[in-house]
Amino acid sequence: MTEILDRIGAARLVPVVVLDDAASAAPLAEALAAGGLPVAEVTFRTAAAVESIRAMSANPDMLVGAGTVLTPDQVDAAVDAGASYVVSPGLSVPVVRRCAERGVLALPGAVTATEVQAALAEGLTAVKFFPAATSGGAPAIKALSAPFGDLRFVPTGGIGPANLSEYLSIEAVLAVGGSWMVPRADIAAGDFAKVTSLTAEAVALATP
Ligand code: 3PG
Repeated sequence: MTEILDRIGAARLVPVVVLDDAASAAPLAEALAAGGLPVAEVTFRTAAAVESIRAMSANPDMLVGAGTVLTPDQVDAAVDAGASYVVSPGLSVPVVRRCAERGVLALPGAVTATEVQAALAEGLTAVKFFPAATSGGAPAIKALSAPFGDLRFVPTGGIGPANLSEYLSIEAVLAVGGSWMVPRADIAAGDFAKVTSLTAEAVALATP
């Protein structure tokens, strides 16, 4: 699980993907890798999530997480399909515990000190900070990280090229997630070249 966190931290960016058709998953994985970012959080917001995770994880270079996981059953579906980690918008103890049982990293959302403490009580060392922009943004993460030492945050929600560096400059920020490099409409239209160019731009911005 530390290894997965290390890989997320090395990538610095996590594309948050909503796929309407699992047939887009393999070309999307190639497009992301071509842009320099072989990572994706595939969200359980569409019926195509499980098949998309399966297709993307077949690519050995890809680090594939499941996003928007709300129930223990979805944890099972995600892990059975090959997901290496599980992201939730908020902190659900049953979801976190099922992840522990299945031996996968859980990355639940936490934006208050109480939520962070609940994550720590489950033995977690990193949380998602969502929705980042409306939860106080970078200053809130700085303030929240002060009492929690080694805890790392993955902010997502309202982040893009204009404010990316503000988040990445915070020591407690492991990586930043977002959908700006994987626009749902471009994927649906099969414009994977656009995804590659947006991804390459994002990678360039995230590289010190
Ligand atoms: C998420 O689930 O992490 C967010 O929906 C991504 O937020 P964004 O669309 O504002 O980047």
